[in-house]
Amino acid sequence: MDMLELIKKRRSVRDYLEKNIENDKLFKVLEAGRWSPSSGNVQNWRFVVVNDYKIKSQISEACLGQYWISNAPAIIIVLSDDSKLRMLFGQRGEMNYSIQNCSIAMQNMMLEAESLGLSSSWVGAYDEDKILRIMKVEDLNIVLRGIFAIGYGKNIPSAPVRLDLDKLVYFNTWGNKSL
Ligand SMILES: Cc1cc2nc3c(=O)[nH]c(=O)nc-3n(C[C@H](O)[C@H](O)[C@H](O)COP(=O)(O)O)c2cc1C
Repeated sequence: MDMLELIKKRRSVRDYLEKNIENDKLFKVLEAGRWSPSSGNVQNWRFVVVNDYKIKSQISEACLGQYWISNAPAIIIVLSDDSKLRMLFGQRGEMNYSIQNCSIAMQNMMLEAESLGLSSSWVGAYDEDKILRIMKVEDLNIVLRGIFAIGYGKNIPSAPVRLDLDKLVYFNTWGNKSL
């Protein structure tokens, strides 16, 4: 499938079949994260795959009560090890690159999931301290950068509208609409 078609086809899915993700597919998804670009190639992302129902329930609770999350076959918690970023880039590393590197890894994994016939949904609403406690993270260098649910979608919602390109794009300087 053409990449743009795949990008347009991906939806945030919050209703999943009770069907486990095959290990080879799960590892392809993780591999897509691994091959993402990162500032200085620091690869600060770390992934925790959660398929234990009790832990998924705790995560749902910590995602401000988004209980649908616990019904996904797996949840991938994306953490950043900020130590090298801080050493190499100071505050810019911790503030900008930590988030940007992990976000692109998440998007790559979600697109790979889509290409494998899986669905996913980004989850950005959470209580970070609670998630870190559930994950048993004790190292202060490790911060939470995102969560996504993944599995075989049951109900795939229709696409929410997107703003037209003419509302989003300027040329050369802000506000200039002519190319
Ligand atoms: C940074 C970010 C945070 C999000 N947080 C949540 C969330 O906490 N819960 C949820 O159900 N969806 C969440 N979403 C999914 C958006 O609601 C969804 O991407 C948007 O409505 C567009 O729909 P689509 O992904 O199907 O195109 C989040 C998406 C992003 C990128």
